[in-house]
Amino acid sequence: MRALTLTPLQKDSLAVADVPEPEPGEGDLLVRALLTGVCGTDHEIAAGEYGWAPPGRDRLVIGHESLGRVIRAPGGSGFGEGDLVAGVVRRPDPEPCGACAHGQFDMCRNGRYTERGIKELDGYASDQWTVETRYAVRLDPGLAETGVLVEPTSVVAKAWDEVERVGRRGWFEPRTVLVTGAGPIGLLAALLGVQRGLDVHVLDRVTDGPKPGLVADLGAVYHSGDAAGVVKALRPDVVIEATGVASVVFAAMAGTAPYGIVCLTGVSSAGHTITVDAGSLNREIVLENDVVIGSVNANLGHYTAAADALAKADPSWLGRLITRRVPVERFAEAFAAQPGDVKVVLTFG
Ligand code: BGC
Repeated sequence: MRALTLTPLQKDSLAVADVPEPEPGEGDLLVRALLTGVCGTDHEIAAGEYGWAPPGRDRLVIGHESLGRVIRAPGGSGFGEGDLVAGVVRRPDPEPCGACAHGQFDMCRNGRYTERGIKELDGYASDQWTVETRYAVRLDPGLAETGVLVEPTSVVAKAWDEVERVGRRGWFEPRTVLVTGAGPIGLLAALLGVQRGLDVHVLDRVTDGPKPGLVADLGAVYHSGDAAGVVKALRPDVVIEATGVASVVFAAMAGTAPYGIVCLTGVSSAGHTITVDAGSLNREIVLENDVVIGSVNANLGHYTAAADALAKADPSWLGRLITRRVPVERFAEAFAAQPGDVKVVLTFG
């Protein structure tokens, strides 16, 4: 069968390889791939900047945003042939840290977690894959074209969960939310904000392409232009930051309403230096009881929340988030960014 593989930390090593079909272990589902999403992390891995092969091997099968159909399920597992499923990305460390031992592998403390398609475990970009039933998420049958969005949605379900938990340390009734960045993470964060009944604003650089319309059709407000000005005008109670751009991150931190919560989800590369007034930033955070949270990955509860959120969303809106579907053998096209891209997916079959 075909698998999209690469040698981690080696630029331009991405290639479709012929690999043996996977053998499901006891307790595993055997799944036929439908779609695999391509995200910023995959671009970073493909550029040779991130990623780890499984121990003793040179090459890693990539792909952590998955969607497939069950071919075979263990008896009594609750899964059956034809079920639409996605696989969870992270697995706890072998000798679990306290967080992993409590099922919070997304909060791993010792860094020895593994991740499908990223860190020491093969991913889901192959014609067939296996997944342990306890790390498989069943999706609404209506999500056959879009269920691949469950992984990025799990990431924002976690971000919202963090914001709400931190908010509950005092009286908390947020109204205005600013999402910075209208890529898949930002748009899905906005979707979850709208589903919560909040006044959602989304900021991105572009003024054309699909993003402004996607935001408007959610019932949210689209902004482009200077981040500091937009933040100052809105004074948001919550910011979900999904650009990783230093100037946007600091504009968000400096401009929230009192008791503001900024949740950072954008992974930036090192080496971007900007000048900030650290004194006034510190003063504002202290005097307003503000909070800045970093958030990555997602646990099983977040996947369930994500699957529910997608099942409730407008299917045609979700469909418009997937702007290109590229057959896996033409992976190079999928990895070459094009204007107007929101989510690009690889197709199998
Ligand atoms: C994935 C996360 C993962 C992170 C770091 C992201 O792209 O969505 O699940 O934890 O990369 O490897």
